[in-house]
Amino acid sequence: MGAPRLDRVDESLSDALRRGRALLAQAERIVVLTGAGVSAESGVPTFRGPGGLWKSRRPEELATPEAFARDPRLVWEWYAWRRSVVATCAPNAAHLALARLALRHRDTLIVTQNVDGLHHRAADDVAARSTEPVGPDRAYPLEVHGAIHRDRCSGCGRRTPGGPVDATDEATLPRCGTCGGLLRPDVVWFGESLDPDVLARAFEAAARAEVCLVVGTSSVVYPAAAVPEATLAGGGAVVEVNPDVTPLSARANVSLRGKAAEVLPALLSL
Ligand code: OAD
Repeated sequence: MGAPRLDRVDESLSDALRRGRALLAQAERIVVLTGAGVSAESGVPTFRGPGGLWKSRRPEELATPEAFARDPRLVWEWYAWRRSVVATCAPNAAHLALARLALRHRDTLIVTQNVDGLHHRAADDVAARSTEPVGPDRAYPLEVHGAIHRDRCSGCGRRTPGGPVDATDEATLPRCGTCGGLLRPDVVWFGESLDPDVLARAFEAAARAEVCLVVGTSSVVYPAAAVPEATLAGGGAVVEVNPDVTPLSARANVSLRGKAAEVLPALLSL
């Protein structure tokens, strides 16, 4: 009794790896859902884990339209900090393994809740080093919560690349070159709707996928958390990669308890 012996733990991980690899090797249609955990080993803090708080505030207090209306300077200060963190981070072995999968395996769609752009950068990196004539766009993810490196006008909705933001004063915040409206980060905030076209593509792919690979998400934020449910409802299987148990774990066909950057290269070397 007591703590599990290490060889038992290793044995269950290698058994899960074997079962996960078998499911993926047979699958013609794969959908991948990722969350903050896939970027943890790149140094991007997760939302609900250690480092998720900024100046003692939870993301739910800052990532809302109400917070931006009340104090746009404070919200921009937080996003300027997050942008600066992401700018120093690079894709890790998990992003690279997923990009290789999507470039090699025609019917794979990566759906991400992350706004850090690291899947996109991994696709560019892998495609640039590939000897095959495949464009990186096949491995670009569907970013269901937007992208932190883009701005969107809160007036006219125009999207533009985001630059450095001076958030010392409300008067220094970035403004739209077209209508003069206040710019905001092009991300989905709590209480806002996701783009219906983007969502429809994610759920259509999930419903027809034979395998949904779910990596590094706490599976508590809907509607993204329903993506694997669509695969299960369509008769497909769910493979989960997460060091911790989540609300999805009980329904996953295979649970790989480990870090994404360690588990995914082993899982995806098909
Ligand atoms: P969370 O911070 O809620 O969950 C991160 C998950 O990653 C947890 O389940 C961790 O156990 C797991 N994790 C931590 N380190 C890991 C590692 N090295 N490898 C694999 N997994 C690891 O982040 P999300 O699930 O992405 O929404 O959060 C979902 C959404 O809620 C976010 O997109 C954001 C957030 O508030 C919006 O901004 C709209």
